[in-house]
Amino acid sequence: MQTADTLIINAAQLVTCAGGGQPKRGADMREAGIIDGGAVAITGGQIIAVGTTDDIRAAYQADQIIDANGCAVVPGLVDPHTHAVFAGSRLDEFERRIAGATYMEILAAGGGILSTMRATRAATPDALTGSATRRLLRMLACGTTTVEIKTGYGLDTASEVKMLNVIAEIAERLPLNIVPTFMGAHAIPPEQPDMKAYAAHIMDDMLPAIHEAYRQTALAARGVRLAADVFCEEGVFDAATSRHLLRAARDKWRMPIKAHVDEFVNLGGAAMAVELGALSVDHLDVTPQDELAFLAKSETVGVMLPAVNFNLGNDHYGDARFLIDSGGIMALSTDYNPGSAPTLSQPMVMALACRYQRLLPAEALNACTINAAVALGMADRVGSLEAGKQADIVILDADDYRAMIYEFGDSIVKQVIIKGVSAWPTTSS
Ligand code: NIG
Ligand code: FE
Repeated sequence: MQTADTLIINAAQLVTCAGGGQPKRGADMREAGIIDGGAVAITGGQIIAVGTTDDIRAAYQADQIIDANGCAVVPGLVDPHTHAVFAGSRLDEFERRIAGATYMEILAAGGGILSTMRATRAATPDALTGSATRRLLRMLACGTTTVEIKTGYGLDTASEVKMLNVIAEIAERLPLNIVPTFMGAHAIPPEQPDMKAYAAHIMDDMLPAIHEAYRQTALAARGVRLAADVFCEEGVFDAATSRHLLRAARDKWRMPIKAHVDEFVNLGGAAMAVELGALSVDHLDVTPQDELAFLAKSETVGVMLPAVNFNLGNDHYGDARFLIDSGGIMALSTDYNPGSAPTLSQPMVMALACRYQRLLPAEALNACTINAAVALGMADRVGSLEAGKQADIVILDADDYRAMIYEFGDSIVKQVIIKGVSAWPTTSS
């Protein structure tokens, strides 16, 4: 008999999303890796074994037993694309869009991302930390245990550094695994309206200052890498400038790179970022099939964000079916932000992807777990329930994991465990 710290037993379904260390592609996306009557053994915050409850109980004894009591158990969800640190409100913009203004018209008129930039520049680090902390606790309550957070509402050196420090501070305060991304190239600030001049400023001034600040954070000390992102879109950064920025980030600063591409207009940004070896290309709403086929043959993850289409009232969604059926690595994310995607909920995103992009529930869950972990370069640590991975685990208030996707609009999450420790509900809530 071996000893473990904790056993989770009696899961009606233990949904592992295990893929033998590989991203899930094509027909493998339909495999959720379910162990009926499953259990997990945990030691030192890591999973040491998964199996049936009978097998795990026969092999391990533990001080702590968590009885899932016939509920389904899934991996902690991974959200690989958010803008969760920001100040201000976009409620007026919401009403303007209902009245007919488009997202890009509002940005071109100095609103949208730029209105959040003004509020974020004016906010103190404490205010930003407080509001982001509350948002991430709501995210945790929806089952998310790993989350990427971007800068990009500062758009000047001091404000971008402020945002990065807030992200690093939150990472120390909260149990969630937090992955930072620098996105000085999120929009073009009004004081520097020339796109190429602003891009040069990012490369010459911002990136050195950002790295100097990042080096001093505990996140960096733990070896978490800072990625770089760019909004490659008509009226924002063109494909040539986006390439230039991403190359500098990759080659000079050794950063993992990714890009917002094809949200509104196809500029060839997906192919450009794939050629540069990006970790992910995100949005892909208007990417033509030949470019999706090129992406599908690569190691770059295609991250789709259907909450944006839903929130903007679009009837067009990215062609996730084609990307999956072509063998691409497909992931899902909230894109949580105050303008295009005000939802923190990966279960809501799965609900949308199944209805509007015709994903099966297993495909949607793999897209929010193992493949989302690949999009963050973290698939060796999170995204599935397998020996050697972090014990980031969600217990549902249902005996079938598909209920998390079939039902929508509230949370079916009963308990969230991160590194083997119960993280939600908190004892005070
Ligand atoms: O991914 N498209 C650019 N950036 C975000 C929106 C940010 C905002 O509107 O504040 C996105 O949709
Ligand atoms: Fe985004």
